[in-house]
Amino acid sequence: MNKISILLSLFLLPLLASSAQKQVYIVRFGEDGGGEKVLHEIEDTHHSYLQSLKESEEEARASLVYSYKHSINGFAAMLTPDQASKLSELEEVASVYKSEPGKYSAHTTRSWQFVGLEETHKKKMSGDGDDDDDDDMLVKASYGKDVIVGVLDSGAWPESKSFSDEGMGPVPKSWKGICQTGVDDYNGFHCNKKIIGARYYLKGYEQYYGHLNVSEDCPSPRDLDGHGTHTASTVAGRRVPEASALGGFARGTASGGAPLARLAIYKACWAIPNATKADGNTCFEADMLAAMDDAIADGVHVMSISIGSTRTIPFTQDGIAMGALNAVKNNVVVACSAGNSGPTPGTLSNTAPWIITVSASSVDRAFFAPLLLGNGQEFLGQTVTPYKLEKMHPLVYAEDVVVPGVAKNVSSQCLLGSLSPEKVKGKIVMCMRGLGMRVEKGQEVKRAGGVGFVLGNSPANGNELACDAHLLPATAVGYDDAVKILKYIKSTKNPMAFIKQARTTLNYQPAPFMAAFTSRGPNVLDPNILKPDITAPGLNILAAWSAASSPSKLLEDKRSVDYNIDSGTSMACPHVAAAAALLKAIHPNWSSAAIRSALMTTAWMKNNEGLPISESNGNLGTPFTYGSGHFRPIKAMDPGLVYDASYNDYLLYLCSTSNGLNDTNLTFKCPKVIPSAANLNYPSLAIPNLNGTVIVKRTVTNVGSSSKSAYFFTAKPPLGVSVKATPNLLFFNRVGQKKSFTITVRARRGKHQKNVYGFGWYTWTDGHYYVRSPMAVSLA
Ligand SMILES: *[C@@H]1O[C@H](CO)[C@@H](O)[C@H](O)[C@H]1NC(C)=O
Ligand SMILES: *[C@@H]1O[C@H](CO)[C@@H](O)[C@H](O)[C@H]1NC(C)=O
Ligand SMILES: *[C@@H]1O[C@H](CO)[C@@H](O)[C@H](O)[C@H]1NC(C)=O
Ligand SMILES: *[C@@H]1O[C@H](CO)[C@@H](O)[C@H](O)[C@H]1NC(C)=O
Ligand SMILES: *[C@@H]1O[C@H](CO)[C@@H](O)[C@H](O)[C@H]1NC(C)=O
Ligand SMILES: *[C@@H]1O[C@H](CO)[C@@H](O)[C@H](O)[C@H]1NC(C)=O
Ligand SMILES: *[C@@H]1O[C@H](CO)[C@@H](O)[C@H](O)[C@H]1NC(C)=O
Repeated sequence: MNKISILLSLFLLPLLASSAQKQVYIVRFGEDGGGEKVLHEIEDTHHSYLQSLKESEEEARASLVYSYKHSINGFAAMLTPDQASKLSELEEVASVYKSEPGKYSAHTTRSWQFVGLEETHKKKMSGDGDDDDDDDMLVKASYGKDVIVGVLDSGAWPESKSFSDEGMGPVPKSWKGICQTGVDDYNGFHCNKKIIGARYYLKGYEQYYGHLNVSEDCPSPRDLDGHGTHTASTVAGRRVPEASALGGFARGTASGGAPLARLAIYKACWAIPNATKADGNTCFEADMLAAMDDAIADGVHVMSISIGSTRTIPFTQDGIAMGALNAVKNNVVVACSAGNSGPTPGTLSNTAPWIITVSASSVDRAFFAPLLLGNGQEFLGQTVTPYKLEKMHPLVYAEDVVVPGVAKNVSSQCLLGSLSPEKVKGKIVMCMRGLGMRVEKGQEVKRAGGVGFVLGNSPANGNELACDAHLLPATAVGYDDAVKILKYIKSTKNPMAFIKQARTTLNYQPAPFMAAFTSRGPNVLDPNILKPDITAPGLNILAAWSAASSPSKLLEDKRSVDYNIDSGTSMACPHVAAAAALLKAIHPNWSSAAIRSALMTTAWMKNNEGLPISESNGNLGTPFTYGSGHFRPIKAMDPGLVYDASYNDYLLYLCSTSNGLNDTNLTFKCPKVIPSAANLNYPSLAIPNLNGTVIVKRTVTNVGSSSKSAYFFTAKPPLGVSVKATPNLLFFNRVGQKKSFTITVRARRGKHQKNVYGFGWYTWTDGHYYVRSPMAVSLA
């Protein structure tokens, strides 16, 4: 059926008189459905589909929430389930699905819920901390001055010093975006030569929640939360000397990774009604797709998206994945956070192979606030709380000072309202992690009249420390220390303690280690693609903050700070987006796949003690937490070889995926012979359930400094398998030349554990360049 006859038959359908509640649906046409239409024609087409379902033209217009032109070929509309199902029957409609509220949120879940150790800023661009190299790269990239990074988040605080445009050159000519002023209590949003564009997206949110409550957020690109300001300044904040959080912590120069890159702010994440800021925010899919739509048309080069879902969503029903696919089609590099659902395996979000999926790890900075006990014992706690004690105070364990009626199993948790003011007044209280937010526990101790707060890890947290900005003198200790402190409390009549003033320590070892919260592989959507791709700093990161939000985001917290420390894969993602921006500046011709390949194959798996990167509990890290390793932007400038891939390769990949993501919902003409998913030219390799032998194909492109070169293959195979390349020598005689090879992975005979992943790597090297790929293999 051609399109006209479909439309006619639609018009002839009986008018739908369903009284069912209308909700926002995302309607997506196939990849080839949009054609090369003029933009207003696309919108007209979307209207005509709706008109066919609705009683009047007016109703049709009112039901269209967004008409997308670049992020996907489709639209968002208010539909009844009947109307949705009618649309989905059309041949050219690839998918129609209800966009559930609460599907996406920023990846600093409840901001202070997790753990940490240190942060980097000065060193963020350099894995090995050599500032000269750092500057060299920045100079080569002109600090990213012509590169535009779009940040999808909760907006930005434009008055921050990090967004000053002092001394910056004119806005790049390629820029086609706008600056929406919006309405807020601060004279509206304003752009400059640093933040060159800003927009906000509320329609999806308001369709669900009704009008934005202006006591909770503002209809403006302005950030009232802090998250968006933090991520944007991490990508491209100016160098601000003497920046520090909370009166002295992490003092030093705050700088984004690409300090002269331009920022385009797309606010698509909003306050959750009737919740506190500490509960995080929510990002509606319809709004995010509209933001990505504009970002692509505006001409951003890189997108930084620290947003994701805690659910596993098939690519074709994941707005971020589909929007990113079209971004990549337009040669935009997309970096996304991997999620904060670790340490449980199989918890990754944003795993589409055209996205750079970023996990979070620590840096070499610590904030020590030792706890001194009455018996002279001292424990090396950590905090970013700026308050201090003058003398020793009685120390009590929460369980011993709760009000009557608090259940035994939660009495150590200092949940809101659980502590007895009579028993707590004037004392230091030790509470355990587990239920509830950490900052709320400190708040409860303060409410009950406590003078100090010790936060003890649960066994699950191990010895990875939580650094928070509490409202009273505080420190956090690991599980082993908590047990010892408890023993002291039980062993003496008048337990006493003193929390020493916190101070910042640099060059902490080991660093990096993987954050416990970072989401982990395997990639459950497609175990043939190894994810995450790479790790970057995401623990206790110092960056700019919204002046309209407090550092703890608690309602009771009246402090306002210019810089704040925050943790999450949300903080890691903009580090990689910054590195991608610098690579884009140095290599404007590289595809998004080439940029990712350069970052991945040059990443490093060792820490600052020269040992393999570990998990926070001391176990050996694996590619399921760090991907190819910790990013090293300086090395990535000059990787030798890259594994390139095109938009068309990703479509072929989608044809091949066996998990229901095939052509049915893509309406892309898949070829008769579909290449295997494992053959996507990815810079890493994952093989689930290997039985016998698997042969995969890869192609590398010579981007090295010399045209003539010879690379040979080395591998460290996972346990129980052998790995070989054919050919195992690659000769290049010009830059840009491509060479293909196959990798044969064979299960060795003998006993092995079924379905347990083993890890290894393979490398192409000419003696100068080392092009390393991680691999993960499980045996059937
Ligand atoms: C394909 O689309 C249909 C309807 O639009 C939906 O019910 C189904 O779940 C989709 N399948 C996948 C794998 O996304
Ligand atoms: C708007 O937000 C304020 C502050 O959270 C709240 O007190 C008020 O009830 C909200 N109003 C509505 C109509 O939701
Ligand atoms: C928030 O609370 C107010 C007052 O209780 C209520 O009127 C409003 O409907 C609530 N808003 C939402 C979106 O739940
Ligand atoms: C504590 O115990 C109560 C009942 O004894 C139970 O309902 C609740 O789920 C328990 N809470 C936790 C966190 O284990
Ligand atoms: C880079 O792109 C420019 C413009 O598209 C083109 O002229 C040039 O040949 C390209 N360079 C390489 C090395 O591909
Ligand atoms: C696509 O997926 C559906 C359902 O998962 C399956 O029935 C169909 O055979 C698949 N088609 C191809 C071409 O793989
Ligand atoms: C592995 O392959 C062989 C030969 O095809 C087959 O007999 C065997 O059942 C397979 N083993 C598993 C665990 O799938």
